[in-house]
Amino acid sequence: MKTFKIFGIAAIVIGTLATLTLTSCSVEQATAYKSRSGAQAWGENCIRCHSTPSPSSYNDVDWSTIELHMKVRANLTADESKKIFEFLRTAN
Ligand code: HEC
Repeated sequence: MKTFKIFGIAAIVIGTLATLTLTSCSVEQATAYKSRSGAQAWGENCIRCHSTPSPSSYNDVDWSTIELHMKVRANLTADESKKIFEFLRTAN
């Protein structure tokens, strides 16, 4: 009887691990995304809705204002938005 109980617990543990592994997919994608440079993230993200504005189109102050606006529009994380707009501010 004791052995069956242990099997039952093992089944629950394995089931939980399997679920965690499956749901960790999105976490892996987020990590992969993190390793991208601001320039890459800019090219991939901003094109989804409009042509990617050239870094030289705006000055640093403008980019900071646009960051607040597009961070919300593009649903960027603080990290992504920081990388993209730091790139835009240094490349203009
Ligand atoms: C989900 C769609 C979407 C994404 C993604 C997006 N934008 Fe925009 N963007 C818009 C819309 C819509 C406008 C027009 C202004 C408005 O109504 O917000 C706009 C306008 C702009 C403008 C014009 C100035 C302004 O604030 O109105 C700039 C510059 C800009 N986007 C830069 C970016 C950059 C850089 C990115 C990448 C981080 C980006 N956008 C990602 C939708 C998007």
